[in-house]
Amino acid sequence: MPEPNVPVPGPAPAQPELPPCGPDEVALLIDGHPVVAKKGTTVLQAAETIGVVVPHYCYHPGLSVAGNCRMCLVEIEKMPKLQIGCATQVAQGMSVKTTTNRVKDTREGIMEFLLINHPLDCPICDQAGECRLQQYSATYGKGESRFVEEKIHHDKRVPIGERVTFDGERCIKCTRCVRFCDEVSGTRELTLVERGGHAIIDTFPGMALNNAYSGNTVDICPVGALTWKPFRFAARVWFLKNVPSICSACARGCSVDLATYQNRVHRITARHNPDVNGYWMCDFGRQTYAPAQDLPRLTRPIVRPAPGGPGGTEGGGAAPSMGEAVDQAAASLRAAAGRHGAGALAALVSARLTLEEIHLAKKTLAAAGIARIVVPPHEEGQDDELLIRRDRTPNGRGAALLGLGAPDAAAAAALAADVAAGKVRGLVVLGEDPVGDGLIRAEALRGLEALVVVDWWTSATVQAAHVALPSCGYGESEGVYVNCTGRAQRTRAAVRPGDLAEPVWAIMREIGRRFGLAGAYASAPAIFAEIAATVPAFAGMTYRALGETGAQIEGA
Ligand code: SF4
Ligand code: SF4
Ligand code: FES
Repeated sequence: MPEPNVPVPGPAPAQPELPPCGPDEVALLIDGHPVVAKKGTTVLQAAETIGVVVPHYCYHPGLSVAGNCRMCLVEIEKMPKLQIGCATQVAQGMSVKTTTNRVKDTREGIMEFLLINHPLDCPICDQAGECRLQQYSATYGKGESRFVEEKIHHDKRVPIGERVTFDGERCIKCTRCVRFCDEVSGTRELTLVERGGHAIIDTFPGMALNNAYSGNTVDICPVGALTWKPFRFAARVWFLKNVPSICSACARGCSVDLATYQNRVHRITARHNPDVNGYWMCDFGRQTYAPAQDLPRLTRPIVRPAPGGPGGTEGGGAAPSMGEAVDQAAASLRAAAGRHGAGALAALVSARLTLEEIHLAKKTLAAAGIARIVVPPHEEGQDDELLIRRDRTPNGRGAALLGLGAPDAAAAAALAADVAAGKVRGLVVLGEDPVGDGLIRAEALRGLEALVVVDWWTSATVQAAHVALPSCGYGESEGVYVNCTGRAQRTRAAVRPGDLAEPVWAIMREIGRRFGLAGAYASAPAIFAEIAATVPAFAGMTYRALGETGAQIEGA
């Protein structure tokens, strides 16, 4: 019989029913919510599927589990001690709690411990704004420290690699960077030396963090211990706008974020795409935006006198408008064809252009009677086992699928020979620099009666052109590329082009109209819709369907 005034315990609160699950799955409760997860899934991953955040530093989905930061501790029914969610696998009937007072106290303790030797130089740290120490301090921290002793000091601004700077005081020894070099790049430059509070990341003797993928260590460092040299002090991250796009520096086409501020790309980081690049990208690709800022831009059209043609306007007279320059381009091609026949005209079309640009180039060149179209290759180095492709064109597969043919060195050499021999009298060059690339000698171009060049910078070929038309550079226009495995992906406009520059498709549309090309072709999506309707490989595709990670082309 119960004692008076002692409350009789009521029935235990009803536990939610565990949902049914398949043979490879388990059902469990996380903070009282029923979850079904695949066997082998960790508690942290299962929690993520229902939007429950388990804070973590050392865990990264692309790396092995280290279990060293202890930030992910959770309470699991029937287990006396807290367990790390990143390494504990789910089990049938498990009940996990992530918000109990015990868990909260532990997180506060971990945060206080991690900050004991941290320099707190957030005001001058590039990671400020996207630092997990900052974020977790606000959400899970104690708000104060009891540590009044002198902090342990380490070297700061260490040039640990050609492109990466290391700050030993900011490091929390999560070993993500070490595991990346061991498991992903396979280059094994980094290790953890010393013990306890004196432990520090270092390179092995005689080595530097110079592998082709070193920038990924910066991406995954949860604090500001590793920073990317070209981005150091360039912009505060809260001003940056990340635009999802893809890298165009090789045929892999890694998914990336273009970080922009004040109409300028300041940084490129890898964007997760399990079908293309996982979580990673190479260092070369991170600098894809640099030429658009470093090379002299072509921002206004140039018209120069062609043999037998009307006078030019460069260096004297009024600068031509785009319309006048397009008129001149069409007139010079028409005149050359009139004198020598359409067979004396040819075009070099870059596989760096988007599908939309190549599609309209093809139509315009056909309208102008130009049948000889060559796509030059660009190759450098070797394929590696991770991402990098020897083929440096981002859309060689796309050019082939659109019927232009794959990049062809022999065809390019034959065209160059015919230009030098005077057999080609009119040449259209789209997004290529055959003079700068050593394909055609500048003197050989002097025999041309019409040289029309469309490019975003003042290349050696632009300097020889009779008509040069300014186009958008990397990150300035949208479109679709097809990568080396046949995946169609979108690239987006992240910044506005300068002055009179336009997308190549818009320039080709205008030239095409001078030759009777019909059709509005008002935007890149509209052109892609025509591609999807007319080219079987792209049947049914839309920009929306391509989404953030693209779509695989069947049979490609
Ligand atoms: S440098 Fe960064 S990624 Fe490497 S152990 Fe330190 S905190 Fe972790
Ligand atoms: S592997 Fe190729 S596509 Fe990927 S980041 Fe490097 S250069 Fe760009
Ligand atoms: S994330 Fe689990 S121990 Fe670090």
